[in-house]
Amino acid sequence: MITPLSPHTGAEVTGVDLAQPVDAALRERLNRAFVEHSVLVFRDQHLAPRQLLDAVRLFGEVFPQHNTRFALPECPEIHTISNQDFFEDGRRYIPGEGYHTDHSNAAQPPKATVLHAVQLPDRGGDTQFVNMQRAYDDLPAATRDRIAGLRAVHVYQSRHSERKLMALSEAARQRVPDAVLHPLVHTHPESGRKAIYLNPIRIEGIEGMAEDAALRLLDDLLAHATQPQYEYRHRWRPGDMVMWDNRCLLHKANGDYDMRQVRYLYRIMLKGDAPS
Ligand SMILES: [Fe+2]
Repeated sequence: MITPLSPHTGAEVTGVDLAQPVDAALRERLNRAFVEHSVLVFRDQHLAPRQLLDAVRLFGEVFPQHNTRFALPECPEIHTISNQDFFEDGRRYIPGEGYHTDHSNAAQPPKATVLHAVQLPDRGGDTQFVNMQRAYDDLPAATRDRIAGLRAVHVYQSRHSERKLMALSEAARQRVPDAVLHPLVHTHPESGRKAIYLNPIRIEGIEGMAEDAALRLLDDLLAHATQPQYEYRHRWRPGDMVMWDNRCLLHKANGDYDMRQVRYLYRIMLKGDAPS
């Protein structure tokens, strides 16, 4: 059963056990639902790493994630998200704070990210999503005209980012691109819908635009897109496997819970196309 979770973003999938084989008809239905709802929440899944990998492959090919220090040793396609990681100076690292889209510094960023809850705090730690297609549709025509054709420079870590990322190892640095250009307006390759394509963690500037004008435009677009009417806020339950579409959403984590409690999730990404 597929039940919408908000008027525009997210659907809950129940009655499917991803540890069991999924036939072609159901696979197609789930892939269509993913494009339609942008976030799929599979309830009551209890998947070991290899089972999770098989389940996620129903939706595409696995994308190699950038910072291999978080790779699960027995299954390196899976990375871990944990509140028990610390920077070298001892500060706690909360991955995913602040709205962003994943790995947009790749020439072909991952189309989807999947998280599977292994251990959750009693409360808090929600993941918030905003729908960048809706946000694009509501822009004034003059703004849509202004941003059509603009391209942003994405890097591993923007010097304008308020959030610090964990440093890459030398080997990872060799693999991760220096800077890529992506359009500010992205057309979804499956639905054909346009979305604003932003990433405050990774965007360094806009091609051919003075820095202060570019930052003002990016701030305005972000403020518009992160209004509550575009949001679906996911409250995690044990057993949740949540998959979202990076091509038309921003997301962020919340470090608003008791840090003595462990929050630990598996993360997998799926390969996507170059945004256009
Ligand atoms: Fe993320």
